[in-house]
Amino acid sequence: MPPIDVSARRGAPEQTDADTRVVGLFEGESLEDPALQALVESGEAKADSEKVAVTHQDGKRVLIAGLGKRDELDAERARVAASAVAARARELGTRSLSWAAPDGVAAAIVEGTLLRLYRFDRFKSNADDDGGGGDDGGIGSVELAGESVPEEEVQRARIDSEAQNKARDLQNLPANVATPIFLAERAAEIAAQHDALEIELLDRDGIVSRGMGAFAAVAQGTYQEPRLIVLRYSGGGGSHLGFVGKAVTFDTGGISIKPSAKMHEMKFDMSGGAAVIESLGAIAQLGLPVTVTGIVPATENMPSGRSMKPGDIVTAMNGTTIEINNTDAEGRLILADALAYAVEQGVERIVDLATLTGAIIVALGSTYAGLFSNDDDWCGRVEAAGQATGELGWRLPLLHKEYEDAVKGEYADISNAPEGRKASSIVAAEFLRRFVDDKPWVHIDIAGTAWGMDRPYVRKGASGYGVRTLIELAAASAA
Ligand code: BES
Ligand code: MN
Ligand code: ZN
Repeated sequence: MPPIDVSARRGAPEQTDADTRVVGLFEGESLEDPALQALVESGEAKADSEKVAVTHQDGKRVLIAGLGKRDELDAERARVAASAVAARARELGTRSLSWAAPDGVAAAIVEGTLLRLYRFDRFKSNADDDGGGGDDGGIGSVELAGESVPEEEVQRARIDSEAQNKARDLQNLPANVATPIFLAERAAEIAAQHDALEIELLDRDGIVSRGMGAFAAVAQGTYQEPRLIVLRYSGGGGSHLGFVGKAVTFDTGGISIKPSAKMHEMKFDMSGGAAVIESLGAIAQLGLPVTVTGIVPATENMPSGRSMKPGDIVTAMNGTTIEINNTDAEGRLILADALAYAVEQGVERIVDLATLTGAIIVALGSTYAGLFSNDDDWCGRVEAAGQATGELGWRLPLLHKEYEDAVKGEYADISNAPEGRKASSIVAAEFLRRFVDDKPWVHIDIAGTAWGMDRPYVRKGASGYGVRTLIELAAASAA
């Protein structure tokens, strides 16, 4: 997909060069233009959210987009409305789109548009005609027009959404392409683009020699070389944030092998890592005055003659011994060492993103991600960032003695998969908590939201969930 040109234009929205312009319609209000208002009166144009009417004026296409009640228009509604418009415009063959942006939601319109127009069809010999007009070029530009369009917010929304779409590419790529080395190369490519970004890569020997026994145990079963990918961004101030993302490029379950039915979806088990890598790129592009260390343990989880076995005991970097009772609980093993490494790097606050447990899908579906934290203040800030971006999170409990007891091992300090399936998302979070050394930390379980969301602007395949939240957190933590 070629990049879509995004611009802000101060001036009268009607005076656009675009072939299609969009006018928003609020419930109970009328449109200034009598010809357009006639469509409202005839009932052809409706103010309900997601409704889009089409007409023509002066050789241009005009879309009337329902925006609901004016006082209820927030960023999320605007994303949804923009998404409906983008889909319709693409279907109609629009090449250039111009939105008369209502106050306060220009950025959200950019997001809803770019996220909806995303496609992953690079492996299709003939691009599917799913109402998109096939391989005809599609929408090449989006303009936000109005007397007070905030140029900077529009460009930031473009950078955010592009980063999210790049994360979706990494997620959607199959596991035979998006290997740990591939992710490391993508991170190196991003680091090469920005002076303020440095990269460090640990290979198998490096992982072992740093005492990352839990990460090494997962990686030992596969022929693919693992990498610990570390991106360091120094924006000259702010607090030092640690973003940690699980990147199991394919999770078969290992010796505790998964059923075959949906196993192909486990190419998405690197979604947390993809979000961390691409958000670091966007943060650097925006030049945010903050310090961020992004840490992504990347490996496959495979069964082989070298694989870890149920019952194996390993020692993580912080000295904790772990009994591996289920090789399919590999995410927490690689994160254990990645979190301990983050602490060693001197981060002051941590967020990790991981497709960690199937149980979180049962609990929250794909509407909210699960949040777990040892710090109310930091959790509140992560929650607020999620509210702002539409990447919602719902906090579940932690910090109870019974959960602490649940992770205790029989032969080692802790077990990666305690017997019984009680509260398994929480127990997974409690396991991770053992590696953050009481630093303010939020774990985001994105197993339900990383792909297959029902949100209109990210419906198919990978969602890129978390990218905009991480950028928002970095912006909010800036000096
Ligand atoms: N990657 C999976 C979690 C997952 C499952 C994400 C389905 C998205 C969809 C993770 O590594 C895993 O296998 N978790 C196990 C843990 C269990 C063995 C304790 C799970 O949730 O079943
Ligand atoms: Mn697993
Ligand atoms: Zn996994």
